Amino acid sequence: MITRFLQSFVKKLKINRPHRKQSVFFPQELHIELTYSCNTECIMCNLRYLKTTRKELTLDQLKNVLAGSKALEAIGLVVLSGGEAMLRKDFIEIAMYLCEKFPAAKLLILTNFFDTKKILKIMNELKKNVDLSRFSLSSSLDGIGARHDRIRGRKGSFGAFEETLYALRQFFPKVCMSVNFTVTPENCSDIMPVWVYCKSKTLPVSYQVLVQKKETEMLVWSRAKLDVLKSQINELIEEIWESSGLKDPKELLSRQSLLHDLLTLYYIPIYIEHPGRYFSNCPCGHKFIMLDPYGTLYFCPVHKEKTAGNVLDDGLDKVWSGVKASEARAFFDKETCHCWLTCTNRQMLENSISGKFDEN
Ligand SMILES: C[S@@+](CC[C@H](N)C(=O)[O-])C[C@H]1O[C@@H](n2cnc3c(N)ncnc32)[C@H](O)[C@@H]1O
Ligand code: SF4
Ligand code: SF4
Repeated sequence: MITRFLQSFVKKLKINRPHRKQSVFFPQELHIELTYSCNTECIMCNLRYLKTTRKELTLDQLKNVLAGSKALEAIGLVVLSGGEAMLRKDFIEIAMYLCEKFPAAKLLILTNFFDTKKILKIMNELKKNVDLSRFSLSSSLDGIGARHDRIRGRKGSFGAFEETLYALRQFFPKVCMSVNFTVTPENCSDIMPVWVYCKSKTLPVSYQVLVQKKETEMLVWSRAKLDVLKSQINELIEEIWESSGLKDPKELLSRQSLLHDLLTLYYIPIYIEHPGRYFSNCPCGHKFIMLDPYGTLYFCPVHKEKTAGNVLDDGLDKVWSGVKASEARAFFDKETCHCWLTCTNRQMLENSISGKFDEN
């Protein structure tokens, strides 16, 4: 019933293409990749191949770069990522500095929950110095048991994930946690098992689609894998619908958050079979300032080659509003690029379809 409703809803969808709401000068999120080093080797991740001989930004360099920036005045979220950001020896100092520099901002650490001891040690140190309720942790989780290990390229990864999760829950109950599942042909049969697992642990989970990288193993969607994917997604959509307690799918029209949750899932097989741009208004170019470990400013996790320059060489505000940044924005505004990633698909859905549907 619910899948049929989504099918007909999507057919009638009038995609809203409003002018960008975000201010170009004042981005809302600062994403810093602290390192491309990692302690695991996920089969779909190319970051380890992006390491260069350049030195990663030091804390002092970061301080210089961020000091006095006007562009950063509206930052409400600082995302610390990598690689595995917590492998940085100065991670604690960096996190503490960012808390002080952006007193009104939340901090989100993206991690793989692999090194339980290290993560606990870091969180313990942070707890002594900052208010941990400002922090959230999000881990990738790409399957249950051996499947997660296979995606990670490390035996014992799933066990380590669980150990970290339980310890964090026990010792740092204030810290919100969530997981992100990257859907590939190798783990699509675990979409539903991961949902069930996360539900049993009241752990929010989001799903995004693999971006095939040229440096990593080619992950091919066979007909059989596509069938598994579709059946898993349909089952999950039904499960979410059943547990919503709603009786008539039309009630979703006044429950937009749930509708968006269902649509992000509904579009996964559609996007995989027919990759393309389904929604307008990707926030990249405007909402996020992204820095790689060497100080290069970029805008989109898929098109990392669309850079605006290096903030060490030219200063953050100048790079953010420079010519190369305008050129990159012009590229994103053409809407020829596409992906189905957690960091952007939700906002595209919200901006593109709010209030724009025909109830009949
Ligand atoms: C690059 S990791 C960095 C943070 C941390 N190491 C982790 O694993 O969560 C951030 C997210 O990107 C996802 N990811 C890695 N390679 C990807 C790819 N080729 N396509 C889509 N997502 C990918 C990971 O699964 C993870 O959810
Ligand atoms: S844990 Fe994160 S950074 Fe490390 S290889 Fe996997 S996806 Fe890449
Ligand atoms: S739609 Fe995807 S590829 Fe295009 S700018 Fe947004 S995040 Fe990047």
